Amino acid sequence: MAASRRAFVLRNTVVRPVPGLEEIRLHLADEVLPLWHAVQVETDDPDADLPYWAFAWAGGLALGRYLREHAEAVAGRRVLDFASGSGMCAIAALCAGAAEATGVDIDPFAAASIELNARANGCRVAVVRRDVLDEAPPDVDVILAGDCWYDARLAGRVLPWLRRARDRGVDVLVGDPGRRYLPADELVELAAYEVRTTTDLEDLALRQGRVFTLAPV
Ligand SMILES: C[S@@+](CC[C@H](N)C(=O)[O-])C[C@H]1O[C@@H](n2cnc3c(N)ncnc32)[C@H](O)[C@@H]1O
Repeated sequence: MAASRRAFVLRNTVVRPVPGLEEIRLHLADEVLPLWHAVQVETDDPDADLPYWAFAWAGGLALGRYLREHAEAVAGRRVLDFASGSGMCAIAALCAGAAEATGVDIDPFAAASIELNARANGCRVAVVRRDVLDEAPPDVDVILAGDCWYDARLAGRVLPWLRRARDRGVDVLVGDPGRRYLPADELVELAAYEVRTTTDLEDLALRQGRVFTLAPV
């Protein structure tokens, strides 16, 4: 099964440098809707998730830029990339010197994509494919959360989990272009970047991606 998902990712993407993070190469697609249709056919599931994993989203792009400028945030540290999608933020963390990186995503195609993308960048990202939001925060030093505030239900579960991680001493870095459910009043802004996302679902080609940490209690 994993092999067929890998084959599907390879068939439907092209390896390209990421705009603004050219040192990272990802298996990327050009258009969301035809690929989504292909996923629905492949899985025989009309409710299959959008193929988030085939695109570099604005929030993750901002986080990647931040890590390139602030390698000290992750250098030598254990990093978890929550809602990893393509694995871009985990790969950016490894490029910045992270000791290890794990990508967490519930979409099985994301798992295949993270592995393929790690390989394309000559690094290794461990993959966790289950939903970890009802679990205790993981034993890591830094959690990256790139572009995960687009859905009310997800946002309502992510925030308490990130708070618990912060309360245990984990550094939390959030990257976001102003999605609807971003909990702005709990965040402290660290940086802002103009980013060029690879998905055609955005209303603008250039977006302002911001990087935040969770405000201390
Ligand atoms: C907009 S994409 C962001 C991907 C990547 N972080 C980036 O910035 O390019 C959101 C990702 O969240 C994942 N996701 C949704 N619910 C999740 C959950 N409960 N646990 C882990 N990942 C989840 C989706 O599968 C998708 O890959």
